[in-house]
Amino acid sequence: MKVLVVGSGGREHALVWKLAQSPAVTEIYCAPGNAGIANHAYCVPIPADDIEGLVDFARQADIQLTVVGPEGPLVAGVVDAFEAAGLRIFGPRREAALLEGSKVWAKEFMAKEGIPTARHTVVDNLEDARRYLEREGAPVVIKADGLAAGKGVVIAEDEGEALRAIEEMLGGRLGPAGRRLVLEEKLEGEEVSAMALCDGENLLPLVPSQDHKRLLDGDRGPNTGGMGAYAPVPFYDEAAAAEVMETVLRPAVRAMAAAGRPYTGVLYAGLMLTARGPRVLEFNCRLGDPEAQAVLMLLESDLVEVILAALEGRLDRVEVKWHPGAAACVVLAAPGYPGEYLRGEALKGLEDVPPGVEVFHAGTALKEGRLVTAGGRVLGVTARGETLEDALKKAYDAAEIIDFPGKHYRRDIGRRAYKLFPLGQSK
Ligand code: AMP
Ligand code: GLY
Repeated sequence: MKVLVVGSGGREHALVWKLAQSPAVTEIYCAPGNAGIANHAYCVPIPADDIEGLVDFARQADIQLTVVGPEGPLVAGVVDAFEAAGLRIFGPRREAALLEGSKVWAKEFMAKEGIPTARHTVVDNLEDARRYLEREGAPVVIKADGLAAGKGVVIAEDEGEALRAIEEMLGGRLGPAGRRLVLEEKLEGEEVSAMALCDGENLLPLVPSQDHKRLLDGDRGPNTGGMGAYAPVPFYDEAAAAEVMETVLRPAVRAMAAAGRPYTGVLYAGLMLTARGPRVLEFNCRLGDPEAQAVLMLLESDLVEVILAALEGRLDRVEVKWHPGAAACVVLAAPGYPGEYLRGEALKGLEDVPPGVEVFHAGTALKEGRLVTAGGRVLGVTARGETLEDALKKAYDAAEIIDFPGKHYRRDIGRRAYKLFPLGQSK
């Protein structure tokens, strides 16, 4: 089977790495891919948002399965376009991807379906926003309605900061994505990424994971796309997973089907585990990045088989096998990230990384035959171990071997697991 992966980050590298191991796969392509992905797949220079270009390529190259990594093309309707051309593709259609594509829509959906989430209001002008702030006070969380590449959420600790963020977003800093805003209560607790494959009706949960959104150790500094992840999450036990399945994931999939927008693809619930129970912070319509890097390393089953089961509506009849132990991904970022960052710096030491550690490329390129940095997040150093400590030690040892000027990474990935589960007790 000829397979195409759409995207160019660390998540897509992990997808290509995993899919390429399937005996069913004869050739694998990635559009547009990156320098690391090129080690496993033919990279074709089609941007992930060039839907027409992707359809043309898939038709000409006789691609039998396309897997989409990022949310942009899903929200823009890549699945609809492939289906219209008679091509098999894994991901939600445009109207199902709205769960991520419009935060206003997602909040209204959750309210209607009784899915637990933060209390909120929707505003499209400053007067209404001011009234909400007068009534509710700070802290308050401000979210742009549309996709904003990780820049659409501000957690404001006081009203001045809140007003500034609201003015900027309504003023057009994020373009049309900021025309309407969700204002919501700030929740406290631990965050967990609960992802599941869906076939329109049935759900197959993936191992739970935890991202590390802030740039600096101790969860300080600005929000990023994610500085590291680990899986599974020791404090998110079977009871918590069952509760989230019954109160969040299953009702969401059932309601989407009932509304005539069946959800096929990966459904990702970003959760806050609060003292009053789990609350949804956001839905995403795809795998998390860097959560996918850790989760896919734990997946023992053939990912192609699982995806085909999802596309054929038989996820209730597949058994998925997971490797025992844990996996961890440590992101190496370029200096300046998540702001303007340096690129074009030479990468060293990758060939010295021991076998068993996967270095997933997020932002790399080849310049005159040399591997150089080409993104804010550069690499995701990922390892599996018998325990989380093991996995982290392997990932961190490799992270130290690899070098590029200004390399930045967090030293405390996985620490939150120990905060609640003292060292040595984590599974
Ligand atoms: P989102 O894109 O909605 O997941 O928001 C990005 C990040 O902002 C989340 O991963 C949380 O760390 C944080 N966040 C979002 N909503 C809330 C909230 N209601 N309370 C506290 N933190 C939040
Ligand atoms: N790591 C968070 C996300 O993929 O949205």
